[in-house]
Parts: sequence; C-alpha cells; structure tokens
Amino acid sequence: MLPFLSSHAIARFLSLLYPAISLAWRRNGDEEAIQMQLLQHKFVLEDVAGWSLEEAQPLDWIHFPKTGSSFVNAIVHLNGACPSLANFALNEDTVGSGTCWLSYWLEHKCPYVCNADKYTCPQPFHAHLPVTNYSAQRGHLVGMFRDPNQRILSGYHDDDNNFAGYTEELFTRDLGVECRGQSEVVKSLPKRPLSEFAEMWKGGMTYQLVTEHPTTVTLDPRRLQVTRRDATEAARRVRDGFAFVGLTEEWDLSICLFHKMFGGACNAFEFVDTRPSFDGKSAEQDYDDSELQGWYDDIDDVVYAAAAEVFHQNLFLFNVSQETCQECYSKRSLRLKGSLAQTAFYDESCGYWAGMFVEAGVLVD
Ligand SMILES: *[C@@H]1O[C@H](CO)[C@@H](O)[C@H](O)[C@H]1NC(C)=O
Ligand SMILES: *[C@@H]1O[C@H](CO)[C@@H](O)[C@H](O)[C@H]1NC(C)=O
Repeated sequence: MLPFLSSHAIARFLSLLYPAISLAWRRNGDEEAIQMQLLQHKFVLEDVAGWSLEEAQPLDWIHFPKTGSSFVNAIVHLNGACPSLANFALNEDTVGSGTCWLSYWLEHKCPYVCNADKYTCPQPFHAHLPVTNYSAQRGHLVGMFRDPNQRILSGYHDDDNNFAGYTEELFTRDLGVECRGQSEVVKSLPKRPLSEFAEMWKGGMTYQLVTEHPTTVTLDPRRLQVTRRDATEAARRVRDGFAFVGLTEEWDLSICLFHKMFGGACNAFEFVDTRPSFDGKSAEQDYDDSELQGWYDDIDDVVYAAAAEVFHQNLFLFNVSQETCQECYSKRSLRLKGSLAQTAFYDESCGYWAGMFVEAGVLVD
C-alpha cells in the first residue's frame, strides 16, 4: 500500500506507462520487457484496484446493440450499486418481457433499486442511450465493444428482435419506444437485404459515442450516417473517457478484468449468456463474415481498434490472463438453481420489488 500516493499521482504514473505498453503492442513484441516493468511496479497496481471504482462511479454504461446485455449483471452487482439485487441475476427469465427484458428493467426498475451515486440508470430512458454529455461523463463510461462485422451479422441474424425488418415507418409512428422485440407485427416484417442492413448499422458504435443530441435512436433506419472524423473522436473517447473497456469476443477475460479493476468477486450471473448470439467465448461461434462479401465497417473499425488496444493494455496493467483468472472462472460453473419467479412485478405502490426472486438466490455447482 502506498498511502502517500494520491490517486492523481497513480493516474499520472499509469498515463506514463500506457504509451510504452501501447508502443510494445504496436510493435507486437517486447512483451517480456513490459512484463518486467509491470512486475517492478506491482505495488502500484495493487493500489490501483482499490481506488479505480471510487473514481469511476457513478458508472455510466454505454450499451451498443448486440454487445452483450448480460453485462448489466457485472454493473449492478458491484458493491453497493443495487443492494437488493445481491445474489439475483437479471435475465429474460427473471425480469420477464421477453427479448425486451433489459429495456424493461432499465426503464422500470433500475431507478428504484440502484444507487444513483454508483450507477447512472440511462436517463432519459433509452436502452441504447448514447453519450449524452461527454464532458460530464468522461471517466465514468463503461462498455463492451464488439468486432463491427460480427456485431452487424449478429444484429442481422437476431430473429427475435428482427432488427433487419425495422422500417422507417415503424419509427415515425412511435418514436422513442426502442424495444420492439415484443411485437408480433415487427417479428413478421421481412428482413431487408444484408447489404442494406450493414450500411444501416455501419458506424453504430461511433454514433452512440459522439451523437450527443440525437434526433433519432441508434436502431432507427433513418439515423444519420457518421463519418471517419466522427470515428476518430469516438476512438479518442474510448481511450480517454472509459473507466472500463471490455470486448464481447473476450467475454470471460473482460469480466475477470472488470473485477480486478473494480473489486468484488466474480459471479456466475456475469457469465450467464443471456442470449446465445451474444456469446463471444470462442472463435467457433463467430459469424462467417464472408457473408458480407468483403464489405466492412470502416467507421467502427477505428473505434474497435481503440477498444482492443485499451483492453489489452489493461490486461497487462492488471495482470489479467487465463492463468490469473482461474479463481474468477471457478464461479462460472455455478448455476442458478430452481425455477425463477417470472410473474412477480415491480410494486408501484410500495416502490420495491415485491417478492421477486425469492426462489432464485441459491447457487449450486
Ligand atoms: C501476476 O499474477 C501471477 C499469479 O498470481 C503472479 O505470480 C505474478 O507475479 C503477477 N505479476 C505481476 C506483474 O503482478
Ligand atoms: C454537461 O456537463 C457539464 C459538466 O458537468 C455541465 O457544466 C454542462 O452544463 C452540461 N451540459 C449540458 C448540455 O447539460
């Protein structure tokens, strides 16, 4: 412990260390030298884990569509964030509302069960809320990033939400209501061609990172296209504004890193893949991007490259690897026992979860 080092001093130390690591990554070599450097400064790292959460709170999750809804479980289970949810998983079964469970929960429950000084529920409500005021949110942002082509293919093949069937008319009629996955009408709409869909979703992560006063929601086919210049700014925000950057492709390592940075124990819920198509655990499950016939998202590629760089830097800084994550991963095998109460709802009159999850809080091997 280094009580005489202020967090600013540590931050300054880290900012000095970053370029060296980043350079090593670009050169794709010299990793051993970096490891040595890290070993020498191990004491600093140990201290970092303690303060980084405090500095980062209230956390502000920027949730890009198809990057992993289950990340909400990592956030809400942080110490003190949403105390009544301790030992309870949020997912489609426990929340209800089908594919709209996350939207439903964020809008109707989050503000009542989470402490605003630990986690900022998306306000005004919007499941895929963009950055709304970067200067105020800088340093508090957290998020999972996904390879742009994979994100687009995952969106295209998501038959439950049928994003590819979204029409402009749908948004004209009922602007602001983002989750349409519940609607049978939406489910039955024909998908537009993949090439068209890809153009529509292109730059989607950039859009959420730089469009501070959007007139259209992220999933609206009419949303404005972003430019490479926007992508450069978005990438800068990923590097400077995010307290935590995870990669959907490296889900388990990301969860492990999250806890090394912010403390708290890894939890089975965080590994529960709420939607199979979000699963980034292994390369075999990647979508075959030859479907895109050479097309790629040259805007979001810039953002994803920045996210991957920050992610790998942090793996080094916090000594996170398959080896050092074994204890965290041992929680993966725990599964929720029993059937979960699906019918309980938020009780408006008493302002709390009424009897929700009573059966759900038991973990078994
Ligand atoms: C990383 O963790 C391993 C396993 O706990 C430990 O042996 C090693 O010293 C750590 N390295 C650094 C740089 O902290
Ligand atoms: C954004 O946040 C800053 C810093 O907290 C604040 O001064 C400013 O008024 C905010 N801007 C808007 C448009 O809310």
